[in-house]
Amino acid sequence: MDLAYLSDWASLLIRWLHLITGIAWIGTSFYFIGLDNQLDPPRDGNPRVKGEQWSIHGGGFYHKQKYLVAPERLPERLHWFKWEAYWTWISGFSLFVLIYWGQAGTYLVDPAVLDISPVTAVAISAAMLAGGWVVYDLACRSKFGEDEAKLSAFGVGLLVASAFVACHVFSGRGAFLQVGAMTGTIMVANVAMVIIPGQRKMVAAMQAGQEPDPKYGRWGKQRSVHNTYLTLPVLFLMISPHYPMTWSGPWNWVVLLAVALAGALVRQYFVQRQLGRNRVVLPAVATAVVVGLVLALQPKRGPDLAGVEVPPFAEVQSIAAARCASCHAARPTQEGITAPPKGVMLEQPAQLRRWAQAMRQQVATEAMPPGNMTEMTAEERAKVLAWIAAGAPDR
Ligand code: HEC
Repeated sequence: MDLAYLSDWASLLIRWLHLITGIAWIGTSFYFIGLDNQLDPPRDGNPRVKGEQWSIHGGGFYHKQKYLVAPERLPERLHWFKWEAYWTWISGFSLFVLIYWGQAGTYLVDPAVLDISPVTAVAISAAMLAGGWVVYDLACRSKFGEDEAKLSAFGVGLLVASAFVACHVFSGRGAFLQVGAMTGTIMVANVAMVIIPGQRKMVAAMQAGQEPDPKYGRWGKQRSVHNTYLTLPVLFLMISPHYPMTWSGPWNWVVLLAVALAGALVRQYFVQRQLGRNRVVLPAVATAVVVGLVLALQPKRGPDLAGVEVPPFAEVQSIAAARCASCHAARPTQEGITAPPKGVMLEQPAQLRRWAQAMRQQVATEAMPPGNMTEMTAEERAKVLAWIAAGAPDR
């Protein structure tokens, strides 16, 4: 069977898994943050119980209690939450390897940003993935990390640096996914390297008949709070590849940071609401940031096309044949592409007219051809855009 065809299936199935496990992980994570924030003082006077909550869901009443630091005896059955997180990372990392490392020349490298070989790009990407976690984790464990305000400022600095570097090394699309993958890796490593090992130590202490050290609870809680603020920005970065207007401009790293800010503010709003505070200023600022982006990222139309004559349709056809149809054809000739990407075929006149609006976005943002592999010139772009602006006439 054809390898590229199999890899399409692999990508689809792994993406499906990634969504499922991601939903399960973020669902439980949001649930427990909300639970923690909405505990009422305990009624039954057990000094070990920090708080409790009554809730109703799925046709039944639930009564949950949170112990500080732990109950007197280890319960017989204890539910852990870890595989959701681990599988989200395993599936996400596999996808990243399959697409962004496996096809680095197409997706990770853009010679117009930095002319590096695919191998170099993959090496830098891997180093950043591991390095991001190491630097963040060291900061959290250091003396410095005990001050939440300082640690948050450091975290923001780390994100700014990562966004700046990634956007100046990789293609815009690759950079957004790289930063998303780095952040997602930090989130899962928080679970695998801090939260779960800490919980294991707590359980082991109880099994040995000792009182667990409360520091593990504190550390786990700290990392889980970090994760909650990173969630919405990461989700945005994961869906961004489909929206070239976000990552194709020269200020893409600023766009990335603005979106991260908006996402964190929205999350903060919900956390505050759970604590009984209605901070509407948070979503208001987030909305203002997003509206600002919508306005700032508007494609420039007038000046670019001024003076460009609408070319005859035949000329548009020959541009598409030269620059697009190696991939976007019923039988692509481009190596590694077995079917027209996204079902977009740009061979027949009717196909060009049908896909005109989609072409406009891709051509104007220079998202297509990927990494400008077929060396489309600025003049050709202007011609195609002028043709689309004129209503994609068929003559
Ligand atoms: C080297 C192969 C290649 C060439 C050449 C190429 N494309 Fe693409 N195109 C792709 C791939 C791969 C995708 C799917 C991208 C993805 O997965 O998001 C794609 C997707 C698209 C889409 C759909 C975007 C979406 O997200 O729905 C459009 C429209 C498009 N290309 C237009 C063009 C145009 C116009 C040209 C020529 C100027 C062109 N492409 C040249 C590989 C190519």
